[in-house]
Amino acid sequence: MKVLVVDDDALSRKMLEKIISTLAEVTSVDSGVSAVLTFSQALEKSTPFDVITLDITMPGLDGMGALQEIRKIEKTKNLSKDKQTKIIMVTAHSEKHMVLSCIKMGCDDYIAKPFDKDIVLNKFKGFAAAKSSEKSGSDVEQKVQQIVRRFKEGKISLPVLPRIVQDVQAIIKEPHSTMDHLAQVIEKDALISMKLIATANSPVYRGAEKIQSISTAVQRLGYKETQSIVSAIANKGLYIAKHKQFGKLMEKLWYHSLASAYGGRAIAQKSGYGDVEKAFFMGLVHDIGKALIIKALDEITPTNKEVDETELIAILQDVHTRFGAVLLKHWGFADEFSQVALLHEGQDISDKTPKEILMINLASNLARRIGYSLFDMEIDLASITSARFLRLNPGLLSTITENVKQQLSEARDTFQDF
Ligand SMILES: [Fe+2]
Repeated sequence: MKVLVVDDDALSRKMLEKIISTLAEVTSVDSGVSAVLTFSQALEKSTPFDVITLDITMPGLDGMGALQEIRKIEKTKNLSKDKQTKIIMVTAHSEKHMVLSCIKMGCDDYIAKPFDKDIVLNKFKGFAAAKSSEKSGSDVEQKVQQIVRRFKEGKISLPVLPRIVQDVQAIIKEPHSTMDHLAQVIEKDALISMKLIATANSPVYRGAEKIQSISTAVQRLGYKETQSIVSAIANKGLYIAKHKQFGKLMEKLWYHSLASAYGGRAIAQKSGYGDVEKAFFMGLVHDIGKALIIKALDEITPTNKEVDETELIAILQDVHTRFGAVLLKHWGFADEFSQVALLHEGQDISDKTPKEILMINLASNLARRIGYSLFDMEIDLASITSARFLRLNPGLLSTITENVKQQLSEARDTFQDF
């Protein structure tokens, strides 16, 4: 903590310095003018004083005058209240009536002369404690920082990409693969098989007869659609938390991902850029970094403890992109997937940005627009830069939006119990 002591009386200065020096780094000056100058120089160097004690009565610019000047400077710098220097007026007994005017001018506290060592010490201890809690951050911030640190050191165990997703991806890449191959791979996973059959029998896909085998399910759903559904179901397993509050966030995040997947697919279709199923999969995994952080938080937070959710969401927003990029790389996805995870928030978008990043940026905004998001936001999709670079006009955008809305409400029924 940095403190500036301002007093024209050398003895008072020395006494204050002595008391405070156990808690802070102290500078002292003997006039109002020097006080303002020293204050603004420190501010310019970005090493501002945390506290200034101002003697009220000084020749030339007095304490009140210095207080006004300092607050004026802070105002021109647009410093918020919590960034302003704490100012303590130092008053002789006869000046107590002036304290009220000083408070109106923006001082924070006062101390009386002659100094009572304990009172002064306690006040400064209070300032020091406030400063250190500000520095060390809130509970959730500390936890995320801990996770970020462990992540950088490679100490966070990364979740495993479900085997079935890898296998299905491999089959799709294989040029001579058939629907039977696909069915054989899916059959190896009993849980996914069950869910896929349930999906094929859901109102959205239901045909004349009830399906009971994977091969007929794959036929009814089609090759690509099967891949999308299997990926979606398998991915959902990554969005689970023990903690009730995190469980709810994961659920929202999962729907945000699914909406972004449908959005990515619809945008790829309508814009004519890129591989439609790849866009679906990119949408599905673009925010996987958030799931990874929530999962790590879930492990270190007692189940009965709630965290500040608004703050958590803001912090996630800040750090998730790097986490996602690293996880996707670890899973062996092509670089373009990591790039999507890293850049989908639309930071540096230009006409040179790869189309899939533009598509997923737009898709995740579309998901927000229709209410599938961790936070509410009014968004005009047509005004988003990525929509412009993809040459999607407002009419096309609203068609896509309606499509995705429809698909999501159907998907909610399909995926509800998974
Ligand atoms: Fe994101």
